[in-house]
Amino acid sequence: MISIIGTGRVGSAIAFLCTSSGLDDVLLVNRTEKKAIGEALDLANTIPSNSSISVMGTGNYSKIANSDVIIIAASIGEHSAARTDMMSENTLMIKKIMQDIAKFAPESKILIVTNPVDVLTFLASKYVIQKNTIGVASSLDSSRFRFLLAHQFGTDQSHITDALVMGEHDDSMVPIFSHAKFGGTNVTELLDQNQIDTITSKVRFYWKDLRSTKGSSVYGIAKNTFDIAKAIINNKSLETPASVLLKGEYGFENLCMGVPITVNKHGIVKIHQIPITQNEKDQLCKSANIIKNNITQAEKLLS
Ligand SMILES: NC(=O)c1ccc[n+]([C@@H]2O[C@H](COP(=O)([O-])OP(=O)(O)OC[C@H]3O[C@@H](n4cnc5c(N)ncnc54)[C@H](OP(=O)(O)O)[C@@H]3O)[C@@H](O)[C@H]2O)c1
Repeated sequence: MISIIGTGRVGSAIAFLCTSSGLDDVLLVNRTEKKAIGEALDLANTIPSNSSISVMGTGNYSKIANSDVIIIAASIGEHSAARTDMMSENTLMIKKIMQDIAKFAPESKILIVTNPVDVLTFLASKYVIQKNTIGVASSLDSSRFRFLLAHQFGTDQSHITDALVMGEHDDSMVPIFSHAKFGGTNVTELLDQNQIDTITSKVRFYWKDLRSTKGSSVYGIAKNTFDIAKAIINNKSLETPASVLLKGEYGFENLCMGVPITVNKHGIVKIHQIPITQNEKDQLCKSANIIKNNITQAEKLLS
């Protein structure tokens, strides 16, 4: 069973992908219960006719017992300048949600979507098994990097491989140009520094274009979250960037940030340490320091 906590725009879009593909039973949990019940009524009509899955809405956390995957997309407020705008409300909210998860479904795999995702993933990892706690965001940022590289080269996205974004899911995120390829050629051989700087800025501030048009990412984050849930439910190993607790990888510890991992039904089974340039390492250091400062602030709120 997949439980989705928070059935706003993102949570309901993830639920749609789960029910319409018949992935597994879905439980929707929302602060305003009637919204979860209504979404479940609607989503029930998307279940394929040959599927035996079910979808149910509730406000009662005890129903998450026996969940294989729990996706947290609950949120209080919106950000205007940075994802950390929502830190105080969402820090207190995640504490309560994680206490319920630790009580009712401590073995489940937890996918955190709520912002600020790196901070909340770190806090969440204290309540359950660490290798089961995954922040979803870097795969979305990497999709944006791939899209922007394809646009730069006047090609479609299928010709861009290994577009990877690491670090914070906010303005200090680090597109790893040294890894990305266009038609097998490393993009650093095809771009000058000015073009690299422009694409870096566009990846980091992609959210601002969304904010000034539709508001925020819904389908992009939903599909990236669904892919991880699917890998866990079907036990098919998936290589993807995600925010996870680091214990010395890339020289960082005691924080969560986006790095390439392999995930399957056992949770995080490997953190990949790929070669990166000194400049990329320096940028990651800055990103790590920002996350650490935010974690310190969030921990003060909880103490
Ligand atoms: N990781 C990423 O890359 C990424 C991308 C996009 C968005 N996000 C984040 O995803 C989160 C959700 O975005 P959204 O657009 O879906 O927001 P939204 O439409 O405002 O939905 C938030 C939902 O959370 C519910 N909620 C609040 N507190 C709750 C609690 N304690 N238990 C259960 N449900 C609760 C709200 O319920 P009510 O009905 O009672 O209001 C609402 O339905 C935000 O933090 C956003 O920044 C992350």
